[in-house]
Amino acid sequence: MNAPSPSLPPPLDQNFLNSVLARHEGRPGALLAILQEIQQNHPRKYLPRETLTYVAERANIPLSRVYSVVTFYALFNLEPQGRHTVCVCRGTACHTRGSRDLLDNLLMSLGMDTREDGERDQLALTTPDGSVTVRTVACFGQCALAPVVEIDHVIYGHMNEQRLQREVKALEKMEQQS
Ligand code: FES
Repeated sequence: MNAPSPSLPPPLDQNFLNSVLARHEGRPGALLAILQEIQQNHPRKYLPRETLTYVAERANIPLSRVYSVVTFYALFNLEPQGRHTVCVCRGTACHTRGSRDLLDNLLMSLGMDTREDGERDQLALTTPDGSVTVRTVACFGQCALAPVVEIDHVIYGHMNEQRLQREVKALEKMEQQS
């Protein structure tokens, strides 16, 4: 950890990153824990390129290894995330109960109907105003409740079109009031 400090954009300052790095120094699996903690503390829940470079240099880890960890685990984000998240399950049980239509209509209602068929099963799209990120997941492990949608970390089972639109409207209302 002797490299000179590269500059960082706000809002993650060097003191914070240094304290995270120091706390995990020498621990097995430290890199994963470091990246998780840093992302969790970023207001937009992602890992900016400059942050990854800083971590690699300070922790004396090849940048390629840092990127291989970040790109291997789906929990890490390389792009800023929305203030709200809607995650639609695209597993088999949910698919057979209409999750594809839920997803298509959700994207359309948010003005994000941009992807080709094959790409919808691995989706992470954020509205231009940064309010909502729409994601897909392979299975929530709640197949009996299919179709399943998670909104801001709350699981909603037996989702239908009307209810999803209602929940999205509620998010928009929260955004207007904030
Ligand atoms: S397939 Fe959707 S929760 Fe399992």
